[in-house]
Amino acid sequence: MSAVLLLNGPNLGILGRREPEIYGTDTLADIEKAVAEEVAVKGWDVVSVQSDSEGDLVRAVHDHHDSTVGAIVNPGALMIAGWSLRDALASYSPPWIEVHLSNVWAREQFRHESVIAPLAGGVVVGLGSFGYRLAAKALLHLSEAATTGPRS
Ligand code: DQA
Repeated sequence: MSAVLLLNGPNLGILGRREPEIYGTDTLADIEKAVAEEVAVKGWDVVSVQSDSEGDLVRAVHDHHDSTVGAIVNPGALMIAGWSLRDALASYSPPWIEVHLSNVWAREQFRHESVIAPLAGGVVVGLGSFGYRLAAKALLHLSEAATTGPRS
């Protein structure tokens, strides 16, 4: 079965109780369920990896390269200087979408640039956990476009 890699970086394992006024009350398990619901229309599965360590995320990108049809990546604070995650994603050939729950541009200056964003197929920002659903829909759309040619 084809699968989507759902990759979440540091501090995203405690969603639900982490600054809920910024990140909402949905847990990572809720998000995994939502993404699974979206991609089930294609018969895709979800492989979810969350780690507070960059090396684990790099390894996950390598390990799932051949077995996944796309990825949804919330790098957390690794957006700021996660160069090895950036390099791992540079060699990940399926499409992938970057997600941030919060509107990073409405926050501190240090969150205004993502080192991985220039490589992403798209970026969803500021829509809370719903952003992961949108990213899943985007992967479905990109996969469709890849087989039928570009559409608006
Ligand atoms: C985040 C935004 C990052 O700046 C922050 O470090 C996070 C969460 C988000 O989803 O809004 O950990 O990626």
